[in-house]
Amino acid sequence: MADLECDIGIVGAGTMGGNFALNMVDHGFSVAVYDADADKALSLVRSKEAGGRLRAGRTLEEFTALLRRPRSILLLVPAGKPVDEVMEALVPGLDKSDLIIDGGNSHYTDTNRREKEMAMSGILFMGMGISGGAYGARHGPSLMPGGPRKAYDRIQGILEACAAHVNRDPCVAYLGSGSAGHYVKMVHNGIEYGLMQLISETYDIMKRGLGMSPDELAEIYSGWNAGELDSYLLEITEKIFQFKDEKDPKLVLVDLILDQARQKGTGKWTSWDAMDLQVPTPNVDVAVMMRNLSGYLDERKQGSEALHGPGGGFEGNRSELIENLRKSLYIGMITSYAQGFDLLRQASRKYQYGLSLETVARIWRGGCIIQSALLEPIRAAFLSSPDLKNLMLDRNFSREINSRQAALRTVVKTAVDLGLPAPGFSASLSYIDSFRSAWLPANLIQAQRDYFGSHTYERKDMPGKFLHTEWRKKEEET
Ligand code: 6PG
Repeated sequence: MADLECDIGIVGAGTMGGNFALNMVDHGFSVAVYDADADKALSLVRSKEAGGRLRAGRTLEEFTALLRRPRSILLLVPAGKPVDEVMEALVPGLDKSDLIIDGGNSHYTDTNRREKEMAMSGILFMGMGISGGAYGARHGPSLMPGGPRKAYDRIQGILEACAAHVNRDPCVAYLGSGSAGHYVKMVHNGIEYGLMQLISETYDIMKRGLGMSPDELAEIYSGWNAGELDSYLLEITEKIFQFKDEKDPKLVLVDLILDQARQKGTGKWTSWDAMDLQVPTPNVDVAVMMRNLSGYLDERKQGSEALHGPGGGFEGNRSELIENLRKSLYIGMITSYAQGFDLLRQASRKYQYGLSLETVARIWRGGCIIQSALLEPIRAAFLSSPDLKNLMLDRNFSREINSRQAALRTVVKTAVDLGLPAPGFSASLSYIDSFRSAWLPANLIQAQRDYFGSHTYERKDMPGKFLHTEWRKKEEET
């Protein structure tokens, strides 16, 4: 009987659940699936791809009875209420030491709460970020698990076999306690927002500034992706510009898509938490802001008539500008990763995750949306200095930034001259300029706060002392 019991169960036979189940059986694991829509689970089990290797429970009772004990159950249902609902229904049929893994994009505070609730009934709970979409789930995602170490040890074999691999290294590792996994996934998505915004700015400058066609854009992105910018996001960008519309193959689909970017919220969560922890993540912040602004369709339509700015295209050296854009994107990518890793470093301290940034960089090298060639040198930087305060302070990265800085300045100036918004590039540049400023004008802000609100200030020559000045007294005396 024991050999009929499954190694793992998956709740949710949708795109992610179905593909992950097939990935697991391909690697020789026995898998049971359950879906509230029993027909969905059954059609997955009967599909050609499953080849009779999957089992399904029509009810939760049937499903849990199919699993080897202690049971391991991966939830692949939408984040938020559905996770709580599934757990509520599932838990009464579970035993102590059974394990639930939430593989959705759950908010990390929900993960903390669920882990505590489960611990009261002796059930192990893990939050695991999964990146790579449907393709990743099927062929190898990047997996970001956190929670009790002994829970990870139990499923390590399955996760390592099914994750993406880079140089035979699996893109999965135990990240830390509590909600470490979901926190790392949230920051992954924040970086994803930042990178997508930067790429969209290069598109805008090349489309509206240089009047380039989709074919020309595809060629540029393909060339960029073949060099130091090698990344999943550029790879799909090239393909998007080649993708013809089915109704009218003379057009590319992207030109027919509404210019309003939606969001499920993980980028916004990253910005929120960064603000709470007082960690600057301007690339993520502007990316969220621009998605919000893209939704102002009516306002932008009116604004396009009411507000004036420079018009016309770029009249300088086109290939020089394209090369500057390439170099700027490289710096922008570095600053996006630098901000994300800084947030992880600070969050790890605050929430006691015990994160290894080198490990995070290692498991992001493949399978996930933000995978890129840059993650190898990022990994090397954190390997040689685990306490590195910021990626830009690593000698190799500061050299990379310094050698391309003029290009970024030119791109920002060009965008300003052309009247094209480039907040991602501006944010990257200001981030760098602020980091290289041993002095910033924040002393004035301190003085103003003390002036109008008696909020006190610190003097350079009296560190640690908080002083207040009666600023108005002098005015009154004169
Ligand atoms: C991934 C993606 C994935 C999903 C995002 C989209 O790593 O595979 O990030 O998690 O596509 O949730 O996020 P938005 O809807 O917020 O853009």
